[in-house]
Amino acid sequence: MATLEKGKRILVTSALPYANGPIHLGHLAGAYLPADIFVRYCRLKKRDVVYICGSDENGVPIMLRARAEGKDPQEIVDRYHAMIKNSFEGVGMSFDYYGRTSSPVHHETSREFFCNLAEKDIFVLRKEKQLFDPEAGLFLADRFVYGTCPSCGYDKAYGDQCEKCGTSLSPDDLINPKSALTDTEPVKKETTHWYLPLDTIQPELEKWLANHQDWKPNVLGQIKSWLTEGLKERAMTRDQPWGVKVPKEVGDKIGVDVSGKVLYVWFDAPIGYISATREWAEQQGDPERWKTYWQDQDTTLIHFIGKDNIVFHCLIFPAILQLHGDYVLPENVPANEFLNLEGNKLSTSRNYAVWLDDYLQKFDADSLRYALAANMPETRDADFSWKEFQARHNNELADILGNFVNRTFTFITKYFDGNLPECGPLDAMDNELVAQMLASREQTGAAIDNFRFKDATRSFIDLARAANKYFNDKEPWRTRKDAPGQCATTLHLCAQTTHALAILMGPILPFTAEKLWQFLQLPGRADQANWQDIGSLPLTAGTHFGKPDILFTKIEDAQIEPEIAKLQKIEAKMNQAKSEASPAESQSTTITIDDFNRVDLRVAEILAAEKIKGADKLLKLQVDTGLDKRQIVSGIAQHFEPETLVGKKIVIVANLKPVKLRGELSEGMLLTAESADGTLTLVDPGAISPAGAKVK
Ligand code: MF3
Ligand code: ZN
Repeated sequence: MATLEKGKRILVTSALPYANGPIHLGHLAGAYLPADIFVRYCRLKKRDVVYICGSDENGVPIMLRARAEGKDPQEIVDRYHAMIKNSFEGVGMSFDYYGRTSSPVHHETSREFFCNLAEKDIFVLRKEKQLFDPEAGLFLADRFVYGTCPSCGYDKAYGDQCEKCGTSLSPDDLINPKSALTDTEPVKKETTHWYLPLDTIQPELEKWLANHQDWKPNVLGQIKSWLTEGLKERAMTRDQPWGVKVPKEVGDKIGVDVSGKVLYVWFDAPIGYISATREWAEQQGDPERWKTYWQDQDTTLIHFIGKDNIVFHCLIFPAILQLHGDYVLPENVPANEFLNLEGNKLSTSRNYAVWLDDYLQKFDADSLRYALAANMPETRDADFSWKEFQARHNNELADILGNFVNRTFTFITKYFDGNLPECGPLDAMDNELVAQMLASREQTGAAIDNFRFKDATRSFIDLARAANKYFNDKEPWRTRKDAPGQCATTLHLCAQTTHALAILMGPILPFTAEKLWQFLQLPGRADQANWQDIGSLPLTAGTHFGKPDILFTKIEDAQIEPEIAKLQKIEAKMNQAKSEASPAESQSTTITIDDFNRVDLRVAEILAAEKIKGADKLLKLQVDTGLDKRQIVSGIAQHFEPETLVGKKIVIVANLKPVKLRGELSEGMLLTAESADGTLTLVDPGAISPAGAKVK
């Protein structure tokens, strides 16, 4: 990534978490850990980087939480802001500034943005009827309203999005809308709102995006599907009691009463990055300095987010920045996919999650950082399991990294009185080790620069692995007697390798890096080191080292068993709730042969398959059922590439009542088998079964 080199400023942001609950591992793996690794690496590379985050304290999620707890929104955000900030600190997030969107600077900055766009007549004003809950006395936008998703039929879809199929919705799309506040049926009431005409801005956005075709494929894919469907105008104001007030002067100018109106949370929240940078600059005693990071074209702006935030960071916020003018647009938005937990989707409402503060009371931050970095949901969803976490910690951190450091200094203590031995002439194997340090410096660095954190983690631990092998192959316990000079050189180089590792591990394992740094009696702190010093062999012979503390104690089964059991209990409850809700899903329910015969199962052949715009889960299939040709829409897009399906024989339910999914007619359902890890296979009737054959 050439844009990151010298002379350039880098501004890194992580999505502002809603201050409506604690942080869990899914959040961490999605938007925070990758950013922190990246930023720590940039600092070691001596780049000019500022890392900004903060709490998102406006919006419906906050109001809903406040209602659920019977508290004031202010009390809610105060509590969760403090809690989130604290657990971020515990896990080593190295923000330069962690702000909050309830701050006066933020309110002022967002209102300035809104006024700026209003003055330029960019908004489209619309007077229209919207859903209103007379009992609560509130208009129902976003998550204040739920109902049946028109795309997938899920009955708890929100007014802004269906969490089941990911479709973006507006309240009017919902079938049978209900108020999330009172569960009653809303009425329609007239109101006025300011819309951002994303449709007319689309060509500009496309021009800008044309220069960013190097973004991650998962991000480009989502952007493309939004653009092909065509951006729609979106209201940037809401009738709500909590948030950044719509500036009165904007209403006055056109004679609209703005009392009770606030800015849409997705208008103000990303501006939170800017207001937090302003507060950071003030804290630095250089209040104007934020401008160089936001308004000077020599800044590289990078947003780290989870995949549910892609449209806001890649289309809507850039549109706002572009319309305002004066601002830099993101250079990259390396969004991550989701993290699942023990094979299931995380569910905060059911407490099926690993909460960061809870984790930190029991285990070390670095073990988690390592496990998540090694298994990051970079281009597809990943799964966190306690067993894998334990294995990574024990087999890699303890047995490879910890063991290497420990055996090196135990040997030096025992046979060299704790003094670093002299380095003699290097043989091929010695040179190879030095070359590996340098190679690892380049590879790990390049991987981080390209947001490939899994590769970076592997490349770093591979150096420790290679160093262990070097120790074994060199057999210092033998050369100690036959070739003491060689033995000294071996141990000298092993110690130098621990120095290289102390820098190399810094972005991923900051706490361990610091421990090792102090043990090695190096100047300053590990996070002030210079990445280029990896492989520079700076330790001087004769330096006295004590015996090191064990860097990683093994994690016992007994430590993770309660964690697994806790999740299994919740999982069992979730499954029970599911099968009670739809008894047919339960495995043990018996049916009669007549029941079974009512299902018309048939072999069909796939004639064509294509993705559906805007629905990343759905594929549209044209099939030959032997009786007719028809269309089936199926939620398998994340498991199969459409091209690979054409010509395949499948089994379908041919007499399923037709439904419309995403506006596409679906006449039937295809059968798949899902294994425990979520892999889908098509039920295969065999190539010779003719289309139309009945399956019994
Ligand atoms: N609070 C939002 C979420 O949790 C993220 C806001 S990111 C920002 O999904 F850009 F708006 F700040
Ligand atoms: Zn849906």
